[in-house]
Amino acid sequence: MSGLLRPLRIGRFVLPNNLVLAPMAGVTDLPWRNLCREWGAGYAVGEMLHSRGDLMGRDKSLFRGVQQQEQAPIAIQLLGNNPQDMAEAAKAQVAAGADIIDINMGCPAKKVCAVAAGSALLDNERLVAQILAAVVQAVPTTPVTLKIRTGTKRSQKNAKQIAKIAENEGIQLLSVHGRTREDKFSGSAEYDTISDVVQSVSIPVLANGDIDTPQKAEQVLRDTQAAGVMVGRAANGRPWWFRQAAHYLTTGEALAEPETQLIHEVIHRHVRELHHFYGDFIGVRMARKHLVWYVPYLALTVEQRRQLMSAETPTMQLSILLATLQSLSQSLN
Ligand SMILES: Cc1cc2nc3c(=O)[nH]c(=O)nc-3n(C[C@H](O)[C@H](O)[C@H](O)COP(=O)(O)O)c2cc1C
Repeated sequence: MSGLLRPLRIGRFVLPNNLVLAPMAGVTDLPWRNLCREWGAGYAVGEMLHSRGDLMGRDKSLFRGVQQQEQAPIAIQLLGNNPQDMAEAAKAQVAAGADIIDINMGCPAKKVCAVAAGSALLDNERLVAQILAAVVQAVPTTPVTLKIRTGTKRSQKNAKQIAKIAENEGIQLLSVHGRTREDKFSGSAEYDTISDVVQSVSIPVLANGDIDTPQKAEQVLRDTQAAGVMVGRAANGRPWWFRQAAHYLTTGEALAEPETQLIHEVIHRHVRELHHFYGDFIGVRMARKHLVWYVPYLALTVEQRRQLMSAETPTMQLSILLATLQSLSQSLN
């Protein structure tokens, strides 16, 4: 296994390891990034932020922009299709404290692609080059990174060409999700194209898509020779995924999940942090989303689940959660 878990360099930053939390809108907010880092993620990228604040809404822009409390490097992901807007947005985020700017050319969402941003851009290599050049020039001392899919259609995978463009324009790290835009999230990610990309450029490449177990991380790292893996959904409700993967990559042995008591403490603290970060209304709703992912660790009755998911205030949500956790730990003792 030796050598598969290693530091990851992005420009002047050397990250402790190459297990990266994938950006996920509505999921990888500051509390979640912090938690995943605590459990061994070497790096975490923020949720996509539209380069035009007026297309995103004030609240979202606020929560997704630079958070001063975040540990460096603070990576902000920008989405957009206009080189000038993207350049201005990058400048503004760097002025606010961003250490790394990531550009999203991977999102397949209809709303995004209707304005030809995200992965729809991959069809227009000239525009890709213009956007990358504009952003790199706008923030010359800040590393700029790019996230892509393998192409827009299975019959038209151009990840290698895009990677070359990225390298030429000064992009310092490339993340590749092994699906095309037309795949959306169906089927399985493929890693052969990622492997080709790794071979064709000298900038670090992260392999992404369906990496759901430490064993899979090992296999993908070995097969693609990527600089690291980027993991999103597999860590939902399981931030310790990163520690388990790091352990497996160094020892070849599976690491058990944390003790139930510790898992419960993590859940409780995570919910409190969501309330603190978002405030009462959004906080309770964001916590519901994560609680659904924690359900396998909560062993709830139907009634407990109903109560937990319908709590309307932070106090109510926390008191139901606490009562549930206490009844669970009593039944374990
Ligand atoms: C709910 C959700 C939101 C996502 N939001 C973003 C985003 O904001 N920016 C981005 O580049 N990719 C986004 N993605 C894609 C992920 O970063 C990742 O490429 C994809 O989930 C595949 O990785 P996984 O199989 O490890 O989850 C999102 C995916 C999901 C499921």
